[in-house]
Amino acid sequence: MHFFRMRLILALVVGITLVSVASTYFEVLAHKHILRQDLQRRAVQKATSLVPEIELALAGDQNAKLSAEVARLRTREAALGLGVYDAQGKLVASAGPVAVFSALPRGPVDKVTQHGVETSAFGHDADDQWLEVAVPLNTGGHVPGALVLLDDAGYIRTESAEVWGQSFLRIVAFVVLIAAVTVFMVRWFLLNPMTRVAERLRRLRLGHIDEVGEDSSKELSLFSPIAREVESMAENLIEARAAAASEARLRDEGAHIWTAERLAANMQERSGSSRIFVVSNREPYTHVRKGRETVCIVPPSGLVTAIEPVLRACDGVWVAHGSGSEDKANVDEFDRLRVPPDDPQYTLRRVWLSAEEETGYYDGFANEGLWPLCHIAHTRPIFRASDWECYKEVNKKFAVAVIEEMKDSPNPTVFIQDYHLALLPQLVKAARPDARVAIFWHIPWPNPEAFGICPWQAELLDGLLGADLIGFHIPLHCNNFLSTVDRVLESRTDREHMTASRKGHVSTVHPYPVSVALDSMQKNREAKKPSRDTLLAEFGLHAETLVIGVDRMDYTKGIVERLTAIELLLEEHPWYQERLTMVQIAAPSRTRIASYLDLHRRVEMTVERINQRYQTPQWKPVLLIERQCNHEEVERWYRAADLCLVTSLHDGMNLVAKEFVAARDDDGVLVLSKFTGAAIELGDALLVNPYDTEGVAAAVHQGLEMGYTERRTRMQRMRRQVMEHNVYRWAATLLGDLRELRMESSSVADPGHAGPIVVPPKSNAARKRA
Ligand code: G6P
Repeated sequence: MHFFRMRLILALVVGITLVSVASTYFEVLAHKHILRQDLQRRAVQKATSLVPEIELALAGDQNAKLSAEVARLRTREAALGLGVYDAQGKLVASAGPVAVFSALPRGPVDKVTQHGVETSAFGHDADDQWLEVAVPLNTGGHVPGALVLLDDAGYIRTESAEVWGQSFLRIVAFVVLIAAVTVFMVRWFLLNPMTRVAERLRRLRLGHIDEVGEDSSKELSLFSPIAREVESMAENLIEARAAAASEARLRDEGAHIWTAERLAANMQERSGSSRIFVVSNREPYTHVRKGRETVCIVPPSGLVTAIEPVLRACDGVWVAHGSGSEDKANVDEFDRLRVPPDDPQYTLRRVWLSAEEETGYYDGFANEGLWPLCHIAHTRPIFRASDWECYKEVNKKFAVAVIEEMKDSPNPTVFIQDYHLALLPQLVKAARPDARVAIFWHIPWPNPEAFGICPWQAELLDGLLGADLIGFHIPLHCNNFLSTVDRVLESRTDREHMTASRKGHVSTVHPYPVSVALDSMQKNREAKKPSRDTLLAEFGLHAETLVIGVDRMDYTKGIVERLTAIELLLEEHPWYQERLTMVQIAAPSRTRIASYLDLHRRVEMTVERINQRYQTPQWKPVLLIERQCNHEEVERWYRAADLCLVTSLHDGMNLVAKEFVAARDDDGVLVLSKFTGAAIELGDALLVNPYDTEGVAAAVHQGLEMGYTERRTRMQRMRRQVMEHNVYRWAATLLGDLRELRMESSSVADPGHAGPIVVPPKSNAARKRA
């Protein structure tokens, strides 16, 4: 850059100097010309005016008088010299430097004496410059000679030299001024923007995408198009580098890590001719109206992430309740559509429910009955006979749909999701004994006493035992289930192999801890870290410390308990007042149910109470965001937070804890309820009893005061756990185990009669190989 500047300045100096010298040269020439013309005019006038007096002196014909007169006139006119020549051009009288007269060329005098015309010429010797003017002396009508007047022309050279001198100073001033302006302009318009472009690119190269502000692109003026181009190239490079790095990491970590691609390839290879059918209440794609348009949205659900790669790879079928307002308008005559809409690879079959069915089956039996029954959160389950009837009808409806979809598929694989469809395994198995059926129970299974509250527990267990494989998150839920089966049904359970035999059909019960996707973990390592100030500023707030909570608005999540713990923390450690803000994202959920409406009121009242107690104009202890936030929004909060607080009163797994870990860069603190399934895997979190307000407040305090090294070590261990035990591994293991089950007979059409014998996988080693 320095060299460039020097060369630019040099070129400018030379250029400006050449131009200035040339212009001065012509200026001097013009000036000289004017001076010479002026001198000539004056000299001719002077010489002509002397002619009568000389002629008079000549008439006297006395040489001495003529010489005296010439000398006098020379002095009077202040001429350099004055000479009188006769008709032959011979000098007859002169005054002035003799050497000059003797060196004068003959030309002018001859012209005058021979042709009678006045003439002039400039001449010089070593000492003098002069103008020689020769005019005819005219007496009696003939030319007797010439008068020569020499006028000093030395001043013309002096004046020219002065003009050169002044121009030199001007040239120097110009050069300095123009060079300074140029350097300033180069710096201002070229170097500064270029430096900023280079700095942006450097930050991009280092992966600090967040620091490359949008606004700064305006400052780059004429470079912004280039900057944008190069930036997008840099971003591509960063992505490529991230992909290569994660590829290398995965290779380094060996075959432990499951990816969507590996899951798809594995399923394609191992499922053979068996087509896969997934059944769930929630659908993976919903058509809803947005303004005047119909849009297709993916409900935020980890399930879609995990199951979709399998369905895509094997062109499977997903049967689910069509709950979107525009769903009916977007299916064919068989209630099917190909999804994902922009890249169709598998079939979604929609099941339609009436409003009454939805109320009885979903709101009533599933969410007012089974949900509080299975979660020990002290909300009383409500069981209505009418809801139970609806539940049975809707399960049959799902069964009809899935059986219809499977009719041309031999030995299908059926993967049923959750507590909404507990009767489905038996219904499917009865119609298609050749099907391999698995159900995954996404919520806890309580102890037999608690489950015994349900008036239809036997029917539910019978329905579930139609499955060949029953999955829960953790071993405790498996054991609770087998204990319940033992207590309620006439059956045989085997705790060693974790099986339950009922009417000749064997169901294997196994834990499969569900998890989050791997992709986001890999992306996060390279992604920008959002500024906490920016996120809070959107709500007009500022805080030094950010605690985050993300949940559905559900009474099992312990939201009120967690807020109360934050209130206690502020009371016991006033230092955090005006410094700590707890952001609670609470997505509205099951809003037609009274217990949920009640919770909503209690949460809002608690937030209001705490805020009124402590808030200042710029600060609030609690910010409640009551809406469904998309994945990217939630992730920004996860990454900006110092600590994530998960205080579920009871939870099958709790994916928020794992999402938080997945979103971090090896730093951050997780405070986690020990009543979640995730607590088993995430032992490096600060485990709390959410009912113990003092204990939660103390854990939050401990987390916020924890040293960097400890925080990092804990988070690194948790990240590794989540990375290795991701959702792809969950799907691969469960479906792999289902395939491994040896079904010795497939002749049973009714679980009430002799059914197929299912042999569980032989050992853990066999499972790992799968
Ligand atoms: C729980 C269940 C899931 C269910 C989710 C959302 O996490 O375990 O199976 O998908 O809640 O519930 P919703 O009633 O909105 O489908």
